[in-house]
Amino acid sequence: MTQPAVDARNADQIAYWNGPGGRHWTDRQQLQDVVLAPVSKILIERAAVKAGETVFDIGCGCGATSFDLLTQVGPGGHVTGVDISEPMLGRARELAPPNMPIEFVLADATVYPFPPASADMLFSRFGVMFFAQPSDSFANMRKALRPGGRLAFACWRTPRDNTWMMLGLQEAYKYVPKLPEMKPDDPGPFSFASEERVRRILGEAGFSNVEMDRVDLLLDIATGRGLEAAIETTLAIGPTSRALENQPPDKIEATTQSIRTMLASHQKGDTIPLGGSIWIVTATNPR
Ligand SMILES: C[S@@+](CC[C@H](N)C(=O)[O-])C[C@H]1O[C@@H](n2cnc3c(N)ncnc32)[C@H](O)[C@@H]1O
Repeated sequence: MTQPAVDARNADQIAYWNGPGGRHWTDRQQLQDVVLAPVSKILIERAAVKAGETVFDIGCGCGATSFDLLTQVGPGGHVTGVDISEPMLGRARELAPPNMPIEFVLADATVYPFPPASADMLFSRFGVMFFAQPSDSFANMRKALRPGGRLAFACWRTPRDNTWMMLGLQEAYKYVPKLPEMKPDDPGPFSFASEERVRRILGEAGFSNVEMDRVDLLLDIATGRGLEAAIETTLAIGPTSRALENQPPDKIEATTQSIRTMLASHQKGDTIPLGGSIWIVTATNPR
């Protein structure tokens, strides 16, 4: 397959999403979409996409939100999922309904030549926090929007507010070395936690009417299937999975036991609801 043009500054993230990150998300696609369904619901409501509209789903991964968007735009609209991960896009293409106006493009959103002024909306569930120079990426993406076109995305707030990702990491750190310290601007799941930073990035990229709403929610990391399922989620996703990469089996086993004990104390029947906190960010392309 022809490799897409990429921004060399995104190389580490591109390697990660075509390597372990892409593998974990693709293996867990169905479960991950259940865990994150509350986020999709809120974001889709806030995006208020209308029948017949043209939408780009940035960092669409395995396509869950692209399919939600397709339902909104209907047969008269169009959805393009854009992502840099071959394995995740492969899954999205497998799941895509035939003969519907949806397509998936392997591309780095920072440099992809979006058809100019062609879209009503840029949308993303957690796909825009991994750019090395986000204002350049958003400026490039904005070119896809018609004058007055909209942006709507969800990103994580601080680690402290996202216990569903951090409790596992605290257990892992009893056995494995800490991840390299991240600077607040480093690409990663929490790089858009600062409201001031997101507003600056979108302003520099030329967006107007930026609004950021904090939404706190509970995510059932067990997907209604009990303790072992919640352990799987914790080990496979986010910073805990990164900390456990290439660790020896005895350390992984010790961490798993520790996570089991910790999660059992949060269990409610077959669910394990833990706190998550996001920003819903909306903005417009000036007319
Ligand atoms: C946390 S995952 C979210 C996936 C999907 N939106 C979801 O909610 O299931 C982040 C996604 O952003 C994609 N991504 C990271 N950097 C990108 C880039 N420069 N251009 C396009 N996609 C990118 C990754 O490949 C990955 O699929």
